[in-house]
Amino acid sequence: MLAASSTSHPSLDPAILILGGQSYPLPVLEGSEGERAIDISKLRDQTGHITLDPGYGNTGSCTSAITFIDGEQGILRYRGIPIEQFADNTTFTEVAWLLIFGHLPSEAEYEEFSRDLTRFAYLDEGMKHQFEGFPRNAPPMAILSAMINALSCFHPELHELEDVDQFRHAAARLISKIRTIAAYAFRHSRGLPYIYPDPALRYVPNFLHMMFSQPYQQYLCPSLVRKAMNLILILHADHEQNCSTSTVRMVGSSGANLFASCAAGVCALWGPLHGGANVEVLEMLERIHQGNISAEEYVKLAKDKSSKVRLMGFGHRVYKNFDPRAQMLQKVAEELIPLISGDDPLLDIARRLEDIARSDPYFIERNLYPNVDFYSGILLRAIGIPTNMFTVMFAIGRLPGWIAHWWEQHQAAGGRIARPRQIYTGNRQTDYLRLESRGAA
Ligand code: ACO
Repeated sequence: MLAASSTSHPSLDPAILILGGQSYPLPVLEGSEGERAIDISKLRDQTGHITLDPGYGNTGSCTSAITFIDGEQGILRYRGIPIEQFADNTTFTEVAWLLIFGHLPSEAEYEEFSRDLTRFAYLDEGMKHQFEGFPRNAPPMAILSAMINALSCFHPELHELEDVDQFRHAAARLISKIRTIAAYAFRHSRGLPYIYPDPALRYVPNFLHMMFSQPYQQYLCPSLVRKAMNLILILHADHEQNCSTSTVRMVGSSGANLFASCAAGVCALWGPLHGGANVEVLEMLERIHQGNISAEEYVKLAKDKSSKVRLMGFGHRVYKNFDPRAQMLQKVAEELIPLISGDDPLLDIARRLEDIARSDPYFIERNLYPNVDFYSGILLRAIGIPTNMFTVMFAIGRLPGWIAHWWEQHQAAGGRIARPRQIYTGNRQTDYLRLESRGAA
């Protein structure tokens, strides 16, 4: 199933909008899990009014058949499958296929996709020189976005994706190459030689090999690390219309190619209120660990609006009960960190912060719970991923979701360019004054 199915239920009673004494019936739609929406797509034509919803908290921008979230009950499903069912022995490759193509891959599909991921892992040698142009301390998210965009220069044949086979190759190229780009960005920042992908290795071990091997010493990926990393990537793989995915869809709606659209998604993810929060969580935990501030003082600061400080890794636009991804990551962190790296004082601090916040009326009343970023950084750190690469890891994980949404939109009949309106609050008409007539400021 590649395209979103229609959610229209003509039997539902319409909503009635009364405006200026006149009634306007508005169709009501229902999704496959019973969520309802008032269809306002003809509102301006019929009434001359638009809706205003800053932050889009009440706005459905599309219908989609990819991921279902029920934030009140802490439910997250990829193509109908509960996220908890991916906890054991599922690979990121399998989940990427599921999200993009709508069903679990058969053995043959899985092997072919894995082979594609292996054969597309190399970057054009010309791209290597582009890494040299970045300063050593360049933010890896900037490099990632720039290099994903640059891929479209090296694969112009993939700008127009006419059929599923072409799309499958473009998707496999992107999913494969993003980890090479990420690893090269890291190696460049450390002044280390680039390590070529190893065709004998699967997705996660190959990535860690490119990150951590030396020309004289191969990194051997422990199975615990492979499993933890697969789970981290899987838990980040899609989250319906979040900021970065909506960005990918918006850019794609103009007809922009897959690479350009996903490069824009990386930029949206970078922000500290979105994917960048995993870096901020670690910095927060380290500040507390270094004794600069206590956990209690930090929570107090986060409640004080004038401080502009937030408890990073807490709160979510959609989850108002618990974030199932955070629960799964916490469980893995509790199990694996003692085995991988011994005790981690930051894990103790995270537990303490969570206890303090979850018994505090401020957080209880606002339904603020740990989100996916709260425990992911601690796990990534245990695996050896440096803090400035955390959001890059999120981007590698989220890429299949971006690709699935880009394709769903690309396939949908009658797609329109995304173009919101606004309520203008600036000057009424005013005249231009020539410079000499303006007087002193
Ligand atoms: N710490 C302290 N107060 C918070 C926090 C927090 N982490 N999150 C929300 N609040 C408060 C707000 O100040 C607001 O209080 P008010 O009602 O008194 O004004 C209330 O809770 C509602 O918050 P909003 O900002 O309206 O929630 P919104 O849905 O817009 O934002 C967001 C969600 C951005 C995730 C927010 O909770 C936040 O900033 N969290 C910290 C950053 C973070 O962890 N981001 C990662 C999100 S998950 C992801 O993107 C992968």
